[in-house]
Amino acid sequence: MVKLAVVGFGAIGQEAARMLRGDARLQLTQIVVKPHAVDETRRMAAEVAPGACVLTELDVSLPLRPDLLAECAGHSAVMSHVIMALQAGIPCVVASLGALHKADSYARLEAAAECGGTRVQLISGAVGGMDALAAACMGGVDRVVYIGRKPPRSWYGTPAEQVCALSELTAPCVIFAGSAREAARKFPKNANVAATVALAGLGLERTQVELIADPGIERNVHRMEVTGSFGRLEIQLENLPLLTNPKTSALAVYSLVSAVRNASARIFF
Ligand SMILES: NC(=O)c1ccc[n+]([C@@H]2O[C@H](COP(=O)([O-])OP(=O)(O)OC[C@H]3O[C@@H](n4cnc5c(N)ncnc54)[C@H](O)[C@@H]3O)[C@@H](O)[C@H]2O)c1
Repeated sequence: MVKLAVVGFGAIGQEAARMLRGDARLQLTQIVVKPHAVDETRRMAAEVAPGACVLTELDVSLPLRPDLLAECAGHSAVMSHVIMALQAGIPCVVASLGALHKADSYARLEAAAECGGTRVQLISGAVGGMDALAAACMGGVDRVVYIGRKPPRSWYGTPAEQVCALSELTAPCVIFAGSAREAARKFPKNANVAATVALAGLGLERTQVELIADPGIERNVHRMEVTGSFGRLEIQLENLPLLTNPKTSALAVYSLVSAVRNASARIFF
């Protein structure tokens, strides 16, 4: 039985707990949240993860010590709880990949895993095809372009508001074109996907990103185009939002659950 700890109990954490409930090979034993969220999380956990301890810091001592930690909280949690777990030798699955666009964050995560003699899995989250992209890089890749297309309302409160009048758009408008690093810096709420494609492929500087406000769509559309010695790859996802958090794609939850289940599977993708 794999003892699982989850950091963050928002939309992804709660939905993942629901999906994992009753899994014969996994037990959610710890839920790590911010201090203000402890009482409410205890109430919710009683329903979806009975028996799980709700804590503000990960407990790595026996008997609670988890076999796996899944992060679905945010950038600060990666740099605190995940680093601490790795240093203590606990393997981690990370959803908030946007955290890794900052200069030394990737190196700090790697150093912590090295120190604890363990590993971090970065999930593909809301996008897909990262296995093919990473494989293609083994033979050499010349160009990776990620195009993120969302309804105009999804770009409210971002620098897109300085590029065009979002509420009056009648045709698609390119609101950003540049490197994945710059995209993650300027659009932190959309940083995860750009960072994911970059980290699986050519890196944050060489991955080209185009972000578009499109009044003709309702779903978030992620498109990736790759050329290299293997040939050419195009992949497009049209994601439905999670009912409990319209900013998060349902596929991001399924990706986390799949990664967690792999920890106890004998054969897996
Ligand atoms: N990789 C992807 O494609 C992808 C897709 C969607 C979301 N995400 C990321 O996953 C994370 C969770 O998404 P969500 O939709 O569940 O968000 P959410 O806002 O619904 O929930 C996040 C929860 O984590 C808590 N939290 C934040 N920092 C914390 C910390 N340091 N310690 C403990 N708890 C903390 C928040 O209070 C909140 O309750 C976000 O960082 C988001 O950017 C990644």
